[in-house]
Amino acid sequence: MFDERTRCVVLVGVQWGDEGKGKITDVLAEQATLVARYQGGANAGHTVLVDGEEFILHLIPSGALYPDVRCVLGNGVVLDPWTLIDEIEMLQSRGVEIEDRLGVSRRAHLVLPYHKQLDGAKEAAKGSSRIGTTKRGIGPAYRDKIARNGLRVCDLADRDYCWDVVREGAAAANAVLDYYGVEERADSEAVMTRLATVTKRLLALGTDTGAEIRAELAGDGRVLLEGAQGSLLDVDHGTYPFVTSSTTTAGGAAAGVGIGPTLIDEVLGVVKAYTTRVGAGPFPTELQGEEADRLRNLGAEFGATTGRPRRPGWFDGIVVRHAAGVNGLTGLAVTKLDVLDSFDEVLLGVGYQLDGVATANFPERAADIARVRPVYEKEMGWKADTGSCRSWDELPDAARHYLKRIETVAEVPIRLVSVGSARNQIIRVD
Ligand code: GDP
Ligand code: IMO
Ligand code: MG
Repeated sequence: MFDERTRCVVLVGVQWGDEGKGKITDVLAEQATLVARYQGGANAGHTVLVDGEEFILHLIPSGALYPDVRCVLGNGVVLDPWTLIDEIEMLQSRGVEIEDRLGVSRRAHLVLPYHKQLDGAKEAAKGSSRIGTTKRGIGPAYRDKIARNGLRVCDLADRDYCWDVVREGAAAANAVLDYYGVEERADSEAVMTRLATVTKRLLALGTDTGAEIRAELAGDGRVLLEGAQGSLLDVDHGTYPFVTSSTTTAGGAAAGVGIGPTLIDEVLGVVKAYTTRVGAGPFPTELQGEEADRLRNLGAEFGATTGRPRRPGWFDGIVVRHAAGVNGLTGLAVTKLDVLDSFDEVLLGVGYQLDGVATANFPERAADIARVRPVYEKEMGWKADTGSCRSWDELPDAARHYLKRIETVAEVPIRLVSVGSARNQIIRVD
């Protein structure tokens, strides 16, 4: 992926998250000098498998498993300090020293305990119309950021300023908790006490991520910007309101670390050979019943952050083409092809019908997305093990045909095919 001319790559999820971004980041990070997260927070769960050992990362970039790669969290991330410290210590306890090569943007906003309380209370109050969030406080933390009542890493140096923000934040949270009829209350003193335990360590990690990345690219560095969630969870371009609260798409990457978009050379979209979604919201190609159970079990589709069963479905070409446009994808990494190895036939969504009329566009309204009927192409299964294939030519004919159809429907060239969760289960496509 990286070469003389390709020095800065954005990696984005193309569907509703869990496409295998962690695995692909880990593969590309071998050639990178710096890997950055640019949005989202501990709602992400990125899995990396190294020598049979599984690491699930929520905040720290998936470049962490290479000892010489610098890892940074950009200003666009909402950072839960306690989760970050737990993650640093989890890695340390498993022999991965990260703290001396980890940086967090001094401009990054903090997720505070009352953000999580608000997330939980709102979800509980909404009952059956809930979004099914990860309850990591993401929406409330971004809301405080945009409402200009957020607390950033740099602010930790000024305890009086922190008190002002936290006092107001807790009071506002309490009014909302009261509105939702929740008895629990935010406690500004408890928040300040907890913050005091992490302040020194967070300030020591503080950096200017934009300046770092620009310096890296001005030298010989190679930078990977690792997206979290997926394009259909983007707050503007996803299945609103069943989305997360950040710009997950490539346009957010530059702003989320503090560089100009002109520095980005490639945008790689990570896409499963089928589709999954976790949480509520419309999903046109969703499977039900036994077919869903089969795909979920074969793909081990259970949330890396919440453990919830993921909702499985067929590959949706309309979703991927929508994401390709919004992200300006220059290439695709297709993951989990091996999960389809045992199917007699595989369906590929190539269009939608809305009220009996064919539509080429991805509808804006969740209610319309929930009503579309997918138009499928039936592809022959390959009924062979792809997990041991290491080149395009080794793949069965029918699998190559399926991938070619994905490429044509998405209108984006495939650059990588992943055939298992291990690092070496990867096929590079020229
Ligand atoms: P992310 O959030 O996009 O990083 O994806 P997750 O880590 O949440 O979920 C992807 C899951 O699929 C993880 O358990 C990975 O280990 C696994 N995985 C990634 N690529 C492949 C693949 O090509 N084949 C199989 N069978 N599993 C994969
Ligand atoms: P990675 O990076 C899959 C979903 C939640 C919910 C919606 C809003 O591992 O792909 P939030 O907690 O963000 O306010 O929840 O977004 N969601 C994810 N789904 N993978 C993720 O991350 C997700 N992060 C959030 O399930 O539907
Ligand atoms: Mg995940």
